[in-house]
Amino acid sequence: MTDPAQVDSGKHSFVVVSNRLPVDRVAEPDGTAHWKHSPGGLVTALEPVMKRNDGAWVGWAGLADLELEPFESDGIHIVPVALTQADVEEYYEGFSNDTLWPLYHDVIAPPTYHREWWESYVSVNRRFADAAAAISEVGAVVWVQDYQLQLVPKMLREVRPDLTIGFFNHIPFPPYGIYSQLPWRTQIIEGLLGADVIGFQRLADANNFTRAVRRLKGYNTKGTQVDVPLVDESPGVRVHAPLKGGKPYRSVVAKQFPISIDAQSYADLAQTPSVQARARQIREELGDPKCIVLGVDRLDYTKGIGHRLKAFGELLNDGRISVEDVTLVQVASPSRERVTAYMSLRDEIELMVGRINGDHATMAHVPISYHHTSYGREEMVALYLAADVMLVTALRDGMNLVAKEYAASRIDDDGVLILSEFAGASDELKRALLINPHDIDGLKAAIVRAVTMPKTERRARMRSLRKRVFEYDVVTWSSAFLDELTAKADG
Ligand code: G6P
Repeated sequence: MTDPAQVDSGKHSFVVVSNRLPVDRVAEPDGTAHWKHSPGGLVTALEPVMKRNDGAWVGWAGLADLELEPFESDGIHIVPVALTQADVEEYYEGFSNDTLWPLYHDVIAPPTYHREWWESYVSVNRRFADAAAAISEVGAVVWVQDYQLQLVPKMLREVRPDLTIGFFNHIPFPPYGIYSQLPWRTQIIEGLLGADVIGFQRLADANNFTRAVRRLKGYNTKGTQVDVPLVDESPGVRVHAPLKGGKPYRSVVAKQFPISIDAQSYADLAQTPSVQARARQIREELGDPKCIVLGVDRLDYTKGIGHRLKAFGELLNDGRISVEDVTLVQVASPSRERVTAYMSLRDEIELMVGRINGDHATMAHVPISYHHTSYGREEMVALYLAADVMLVTALRDGMNLVAKEYAASRIDDDGVLILSEFAGASDELKRALLINPHDIDGLKAAIVRAVTMPKTERRARMRSLRKRVFEYDVVTWSSAFLDELTAKADG
């Protein structure tokens, strides 16, 4: 992508705010830099809404110390928010990814609590809120995304009470027993309650949130509705609002909206002759094993990559699968590489891969084909088509879109999905082989079952997965959320 022309950002009736922009600024070793599309599902989902509403996207370009003017990319107004190196270390790597991320994922890794990180989180959230406030027209709809920006809804409401504000949490919301560890637990709840609609992946996440609201704020909650007394928000201010127990209140909706993918675009790619040829080539390059098992993850401790390798290694040791017949392809995309827990994880995983390969490789076959990289969409779909079994062993995951991408790509109705019950996707993809990744024997049994599953059963299961993924795609997801939000605006 070439550098786009700068534009006057003006005011917008629909604004998305997320930590990362839909485009990344990439620095080359020779000192030059360019823009690269980061084609996440969110971009695909929101693109039509953005174009219809002259939308704007507020976010960080992914590099420190970069002041960039607003510009236009594919019909979307991009409004970059600058982060200094200190912000990246304290707000992004620190509070977002070494405090909130482990805390919200069942403390699989221990969260670190630093008051300086919290101060940075507050000030960066304010910068995002101010940027969104500055470009929103009167009565605009603003949709804030994910755990990095949980204070933005309240900050935005304080400066712009005319806005309709939505928030969607892409990761789990933890049970109160875990959430209550957070020294700033009340401030985060107050931050989120600035929104009109707060979306979660699963019903359990929404319930965890409303319980935290009751415990920390004592507010009434009924079903998906939370009553926020306005006197708490604007002390001393007389307001015209519904009354409950004589007090004015604002009602907030907290509800599950499971995110999805642009299923058709995966099926379209899977139809492409070049992608199909690449899938055949991948199988050949791997020595045409009877069965290819695939794992695709960001290299993150929440994904249970170690559990999966342990199960696979034991199956080889036990002689229940052989290196000639079964190959595991593991794609591990580099992620958050300056955070200590991620550095140790990489060492741990690569040690395991090396050991298993060292113990079981023959001159002709290597049990694990390991790739520490991220691939583009076409290569991913070719891999999905080549893989007989897809292995998703997350210990905790908001949704896990890889599971949905695999199903959407299997236009031949073949392939077996093994899916952790701790991934949000398991609420919907009920005909996957559901596993508890902590139960290594159960995981081993599921792998053997998948490898030996008769074709009729594979097809029946895959059809059911595909039906769900196509019926509830990312456009259905964004419409469901925005309908709820605009109903609040009109009501
Ligand atoms: C998860 C989060 C996203 C985040 C992504 C990649 O999916 O929910 O908010 O953007 O991981 O992580 P990164 O830290 O590279 O943005």
